[in-house]
Amino acid sequence: MSLNNLRDFVAALERAGELVRVPAPVSVVREIAEVADRCMKSPGGGPALLFTRPTLAGGKASSVPVAINLFGSYKRIGMALGVSDLNEIGARVTHLLTMKPPEGWRQKLALLPKLAELTKYPPRTVDGRPPCQELVLKGSEIDLSQVPIITCWPEDGGPYLTLPQVITRDPKTGVRNVGMYRVQVLGKDLLAMHWQRHKVGAAHWREMAARGEKMPVAIALGGDPASIYCASAPLPPTIDEYLFAGFLRRQPVHLAKAATVDLLVPAESELVIEGYVDPAEPLVLEGPFGDHTGFYSLADYYPAVHVTAITMRQDPIYPATIVGRPPMEDYYLGHATERIFLPLLKLTVPEIVDYHMPAYGIFHNLVFVSIKKQFPGQAWKVMNALWGMGLMSLAKLIVVLDQEVNVQDPEEAWWVALNHMDPERDIRFTMGPIDVLDHSSRAFTYGSKMGIDATRKWKEEGFDREWPNRIVMDEETKRRVDAMWDQLGIPGVGRRGT
Ligand SMILES: Cc1cc2nc3c(=O)[nH]c(=O)nc-3n(C[C@H](O)[C@H](O)[C@H](O)COP(=O)(O)O)c2cc1C
Repeated sequence: MSLNNLRDFVAALERAGELVRVPAPVSVVREIAEVADRCMKSPGGGPALLFTRPTLAGGKASSVPVAINLFGSYKRIGMALGVSDLNEIGARVTHLLTMKPPEGWRQKLALLPKLAELTKYPPRTVDGRPPCQELVLKGSEIDLSQVPIITCWPEDGGPYLTLPQVITRDPKTGVRNVGMYRVQVLGKDLLAMHWQRHKVGAAHWREMAARGEKMPVAIALGGDPASIYCASAPLPPTIDEYLFAGFLRRQPVHLAKAATVDLLVPAESELVIEGYVDPAEPLVLEGPFGDHTGFYSLADYYPAVHVTAITMRQDPIYPATIVGRPPMEDYYLGHATERIFLPLLKLTVPEIVDYHMPAYGIFHNLVFVSIKKQFPGQAWKVMNALWGMGLMSLAKLIVVLDQEVNVQDPEEAWWVALNHMDPERDIRFTMGPIDVLDHSSRAFTYGSKMGIDATRKWKEEGFDREWPNRIVMDEETKRRVDAMWDQLGIPGVGRRGT
């Protein structure tokens, strides 16, 4: 069944036993966050939650339910993207990128649908009043305090939109960008936009500032789950997130003209906040915010968004997430990116077998990469390539291992790495851009990186001792022990040590 909007997704999760409705009054001020945090920290990510009667900051009950932790398990992120295993999407992308010259007309014909696969489902603009504009609030009707926007942590600067699709347009190319950037509520019609300097929304803003033009911005909440995920995906600036969402869904995303700004917004959104950034205006103080590092990101200056309209369904559901000490819901969104982008990494760095960013590494702090090593120095080549690619350039520590290491298992990766390295020989430091959220770098967004070559060392790399094999029991002995296992009377241990 296709999931065309947030309510479809909520209903599908409920049918699958993945969602718990909470009818009790729970405050949007930290209480929802505390409940969600306990769920997200429970084994497997806990259930998705729908708070049906959240209490607003002023103490009034809201009729707008708050949905949270919708993407927060392997099963639910798979459901959001219509697969039971995220690697299925990776395989689709690989198929798309495998371009052998066709031999004969049969193969040429077979290539055509493949080429069309990515562009088969371009976003479609719908006429008439879209669901997200059943209610249109303008002027004095705009009051963000009536929306159940959550305040997450005690030292946060205020309430935040935490699961938004921030829509902007590149003034040079006209290409749309959709980014998931937290947005702080500063007043009933005023927001602070936290697009970090390395992100595409910020690039559009710099471009608009150079032109001295006001910048239209739309912030969509809800819509189909693939579109919500795509806002968090580090797609190249030339790829429209809603085109990619169409590819993931195998159906176009429906868009509609925004009510007060010159942008298209997902027609199926629950709620859309429209407005503009005026680059001529001074920046406003944003934060602090309890961030996905598990620490507060400090207050800093970001552009203000003036709200020109709030449009919504008659009965919107407000989607949210919280970030904080991992594991949290955002790990699963990041994990989808890890799986979907593997074929794209392999396109330019073909020796990569797999990679993994463990939850506690917060994406940019730690990347394990396994490679098929074919020449000396290849681990350094791979690290340098990764540090030159998109948001991978922010990676603080990259550990490169041989192909047989299962990098999806961080314990195995560390075990092998710690065995295989001679620290002075195998660790190198370099410099580069650092994630905005890193609080330890010597300067804001600039600092050092560390690479560990944990591959087997070759003679050409100056290693002339013998390299030992990994200890693995032979199959014959395993089979004999399997056959006798039940007679051994050893409780609590499975046949193969499981
Ligand atoms: C829950 C969540 C919150 C995020 N908050 C921010 C944020 O406040 N600012 C930011 O620049 N990136 C944030 N990100 C990361 C961006 O969504 C991500 O880097 C994305 O690729 C940005 O889109 P862009 O490449 O189109 O700029 C967040 C991601 C998630 C999953």
